[in-house]
Amino acid sequence: MIASQLIFALSFVPFLATAAPVTVPTSSEESHVLSRRGFGYNGVTTATSTAWYTDNFSKGPSTPASGYQCYHGDVSKYPTKDKWMNFYDLFNHNKPAMLARNNGNGDLVGKIWNAIVKVSQDAKVDARVILATVMQESTGQANVPCTGTMPNCGLMQASYGSISFNPADPQGSITETIREGVQGTNSGGPYGGGGPGLVQFLNNALSWVTNPWPGNPYAAARIYNSGHISNNNLDDLTGSEWSTKSYANDIANRLLGWDGSGAGFAAC
Ligand SMILES: *[C@@H]1O[C@H](CO)[C@@H](O)[C@H](O)[C@H]1NC(C)=O
Repeated sequence: MIASQLIFALSFVPFLATAAPVTVPTSSEESHVLSRRGFGYNGVTTATSTAWYTDNFSKGPSTPASGYQCYHGDVSKYPTKDKWMNFYDLFNHNKPAMLARNNGNGDLVGKIWNAIVKVSQDAKVDARVILATVMQESTGQANVPCTGTMPNCGLMQASYGSISFNPADPQGSITETIREGVQGTNSGGPYGGGGPGLVQFLNNALSWVTNPWPGNPYAAARIYNSGHISNNNLDDLTGSEWSTKSYANDIANRLLGWDGSGAGFAAC
């Protein structure tokens, strides 16, 4: 997630939670480990539209689309949900990158799986959209540092009030960071309040930003990154030049199985 002053600022096999000790990778940068603060910006935790949601993790292609596709324009130019890889295969496809970022700790990667599944079901936000955002924001690095002055923390670099990985509570803190990115935070921000997550952007329920395409994950991705949508072109950053031009394109490609390698959007 970004930092404008507004917001912001397994071969498949779901891992089972085990009692094995978690080896915590060290991070030299700021940590933001706090006790649970709470999620659900404005008390809202669920997406109203389920048009872009499926709870069937087998649905969708099992292999990645080839290469990086270039999308320009409004959401109608972006790929439909039936093109997204199925969640099982998409997760496995991203597993090597996550393992590399977590010092090979498969237990942590399993906890990320658990968290995405739980939050997806609670929030009615597609698990693949959550995974794509996690990969885009942190490459699945559990102890990723916070960024920004109203810090965006955790696996989804969520709104202010968000927390980081807590070695004393690996599953709890990982799930909380996913909740904060998806459902928003409800406390702990610099003004006492929290900040929105994907659900609030999807629902178009905020007074200070309009989503012209409620329910659409590409539009939500644009807002998640830059705090607003400039016009009908999701890669136009007018008014939010500090943000990432490729963001909605990257999310779309990650849903099709792009693993972040190669030139990506730079070649579009
Ligand atoms: C889930 O999707 C798969 C693949 O499309 C399909 O074969 C299966 O019947 C679906 N399962 C349910 C419970 O709908």
